Amino acid sequence: LVVVIDFGGQYSQLIARRIREESVYCEIHPYTISVEKIQELSPKAIILSGGPSSVYLDESPDIDSEIFELGIPVLGICYGMQIMAKKSGGKVVRAEKREYGKALFEVLNGNHLTEGLSGELLVWMSHGDSVEELPPGFKVMGKTDNTPVAGIFNPQKQLYGVQFHLEVLHTPKGQEMLNNFLFEIAELSSDWTMDSYIDETVNSIKKEVGDRNAICGLSGGIDSTVAAVLVQQAIGDNLTCIFVNHGLLRKDEENQVLELFREKFDVKVVYVDARERFLSKLKGVTDPEQKRKIIGEEFIRVFEEEARKIGDVDFLVQGTLYTDVVESGTETASVIKSHHNVGGLPEKMELSLIEPLNSLFKDEVRQVAKELEMPKEVVWRHPFPGPGLAIRVLGEVTEDKLSILKEADAVVADELKKVGLYHDIWQLFTVLPDIKTVGVKGDERSYDYPIILRAVNSQDGMTADWYRFSNDVLESLSNRVVNEVEGVNRLVYDITSKPPATIEWE
Ligand code: XMP
Repeated sequence: LVVVIDFGGQYSQLIARRIREESVYCEIHPYTISVEKIQELSPKAIILSGGPSSVYLDESPDIDSEIFELGIPVLGICYGMQIMAKKSGGKVVRAEKREYGKALFEVLNGNHLTEGLSGELLVWMSHGDSVEELPPGFKVMGKTDNTPVAGIFNPQKQLYGVQFHLEVLHTPKGQEMLNNFLFEIAELSSDWTMDSYIDETVNSIKKEVGDRNAICGLSGGIDSTVAAVLVQQAIGDNLTCIFVNHGLLRKDEENQVLELFREKFDVKVVYVDARERFLSKLKGVTDPEQKRKIIGEEFIRVFEEEARKIGDVDFLVQGTLYTDVVESGTETASVIKSHHNVGGLPEKMELSLIEPLNSLFKDEVRQVAKELEMPKEVVWRHPFPGPGLAIRVLGEVTEDKLSILKEADAVVADELKKVGLYHDIWQLFTVLPDIKTVGVKGDERSYDYPIILRAVNSQDGMTADWYRFSNDVLESLSNRVVNEVEGVNRLVYDITSKPPATIEWE
């Protein structure tokens, strides 16, 4: 295990991914983690992330200096290096020259981190502070034109710090340095595979649940399906899946999901038609966060009712991903939006949560699904958010708007399947805004809704790029949506990446 301590830097996720890509397990924890907790986790290495603050400010994120005395190798990156320097007795000051972007790093003293790398190294810098005085026991690793101390190390204590971001692709040899840290310095091995993840997860669920009962909120998407199968492997028939139709599903989705489960999976599924109660709770509500919270809470209430019907149920299984946890706000990351199954949860709940995937990214869940030999249609299904079409009907959700959106969504998916692009795209959907526009259909004025098309490619949903369709495909999509969907007279294509936009519109 590697523990990444997060100081609120924008690249903390990326550090974690780079480690996992080397088949080494890692967890991100906020900088408020205690030394005792770290000892309990007993990591073989610690990485301190970058962060937006300055270590010499009173309110800046701090850490117990004990961390550097545990005998565990530590790598500090940017803010992480500065805090390592300060806590070890060095001095950090505001730099004379700030340094952003590319720089050349010249290695001054031989060390294990840059072993095997020769010449000046291209690195990516983003800092306004610098180490002015080295802490005792430390040596300068290297310098750049603007930064005389751009890297430090203490070979006795196995402490390494770099001012640049070795986790970004703009530091071409960054992965080699990281590998030196993981495999040479910390002596970790690449043995974290999805196979081992499955075994460990199934065993720990077995231990936690024992012979008690659990229910699982099932949506038919890959996350909840994988979560359900893992828990089923652990506790067998003591698991009941609950599939809630909240009226915010895509066209015919409930039938497709139920059929899939009946045919391909050996799990108990209870279908709950909750369309009316969700829609009546959403009546008149226009604020996106409020919609998410209402849906999150209502899901839980339905699950609790179903649990009472089954009797003697203690656990609720959810397919929450790491991404959902991070975007819903952690101690160090701010709230982007409340994912229905995290930030949208009510404060009081009767059931304890089991979230077997909450440390995985989406592409890792797909790997688990492949290991579990799930059907392709599940593995490559486009992500669909728990709050469903409620966050794609902008403003108030009504039956009329939902039926327009369902139709538009079905037409777009059908066309892209026909032209063979559907599986080329990571996520594809339509959005119905709360405005109408003027058009002319068959010599008559129309005053109808526009439909927004969103298609993106992504690895894990944390960042995304809009999909480049050919003009021919855009034309056929536009013709079909406007001709086939009643109440729509325009198709608009969203050409914004994430960031600065998010994938969903609400
Ligand atoms: P955003 O809009 O945050 O979306 O860029 C990132 C990915 O997460 C999905 N998403 C959700 N999934 N519950 C979910 O299960 C939610 O509340 C939720 N909100 C967004 C979104 O569809 C995209 O794939």
